[in-house]
Amino acid sequence: MNKKNKSFVMPTYGTKKLKFLKGKGCYLYNNNNEKYLDFASGIAVNSLGHCHPKLVSALYKQSKQLWHVSNLYIIEKQEQFAKLLCKSSFADKVFFTNSGTESIECGIKIIRGYHSYHNTGRTNIITFDGSFHGRTFGALSAQKNKKYSKGFGPLLSGFKKVEFNNIKKLKAVIDNKTAGILIEPVQGEGGIRPADLKFLQFIKKICDENDILLFLDEVQCGFGRSGKLFSHEWAKIKPDIMAVAKGIGSGFPLGACLSTSKACVSMTKGSHGSTYGGNPLAMSVGLEVLKIVSNKNFLNRVDKASRYFWGKLKELENKFDIIKEVRGAGLLLGIKTYCDNLEFSEKLKKYRLLNVPAADNTIRLAPPLIVSYKEIDESIAIIKKVLKQYNE
Ligand SMILES: Cc1ncc(COP(=O)(O)O)c(C=O)c1O
Repeated sequence: MNKKNKSFVMPTYGTKKLKFLKGKGCYLYNNNNEKYLDFASGIAVNSLGHCHPKLVSALYKQSKQLWHVSNLYIIEKQEQFAKLLCKSSFADKVFFTNSGTESIECGIKIIRGYHSYHNTGRTNIITFDGSFHGRTFGALSAQKNKKYSKGFGPLLSGFKKVEFNNIKKLKAVIDNKTAGILIEPVQGEGGIRPADLKFLQFIKKICDENDILLFLDEVQCGFGRSGKLFSHEWAKIKPDIMAVAKGIGSGFPLGACLSTSKACVSMTKGSHGSTYGGNPLAMSVGLEVLKIVSNKNFLNRVDKASRYFWGKLKELENKFDIIKEVRGAGLLLGIKTYCDNLEFSEKLKKYRLLNVPAADNTIRLAPPLIVSYKEIDESIAIIKKVLKQYNE
């Protein structure tokens, strides 16, 4: 890189090639006004697409009134949003954060705090192979994945990792030190791997029977992405704690940790905090997103669109040998290929279909939840074009 092009941003994200100047719905536009179909949605973030008029209007209105006051004062929209989140879920209480990893940190504290309050002597949290919970030390320690933590040790103690979807191995590791179980109902970064519904139901049962707190990470798979407001609803279970972010703000930095009153018994005055968490700008957007996404008709439409997309991708899986598997849930879908997933991802991008690679040699397709059948067809045509290159 010559001096003129030198970047002053820490090079943690590697080299970037694409630059976008505007977005509308499911499309992004570059500096030549070329249109890209955005089936990455940031990384499963823009739940309502780009610049949704209702969100633009909510943010604009709030930005003219009040940006920030801190949590030393009453923030009415924070109360309203928390109330609506609780009404729409298992939760009794909400702590607002600015990102997914902060929501995870809060949940870890809730688990440790609960067992400390009740003097059980338990501190261990069970997590799973392939999980991704973020980049803070709590998250790095929980997921125990060297890809993210190499060179940053020592990590925190008290986390045990078990094979994903393996009831027998999970049973074997639970003991009288187990305080909580942390799991993504659909693994995102780990390769778009859904937890078996039976596995989730088993975890719920074992948690209830042994006073273990069930902590779900729905940062990527929550907020309508699965076709239900929260993914765990498919398993008909309720967690004690849940981390959300990404889709909750549709692009505005926002996250939350939801909990039952019973679980967050230790989260008393001074036990936790955030300068920005729950600030009026974020609350005005989040409230509007939840009102739209929690609507039954909206969720039914997401479910139908995702089944349509799934069917089309499965047709491609049957037709093209280069696809090993299509998997996922709702509008969080993965294609595992026999070819290099990074190369496959780049080829799709060349035809202006944005996607995000994930682990286990997959590429991830996470379109905005407002995606139309026409846009799904457009993506399928591009994927087919690329697949044909491998068949030739
Ligand atoms: C399941 C899951 N949890 C946590 C995180 C961390 O979220 P953030 O990057 O907002 O801190 C991510 C991010 O990709 C995620 O997919």
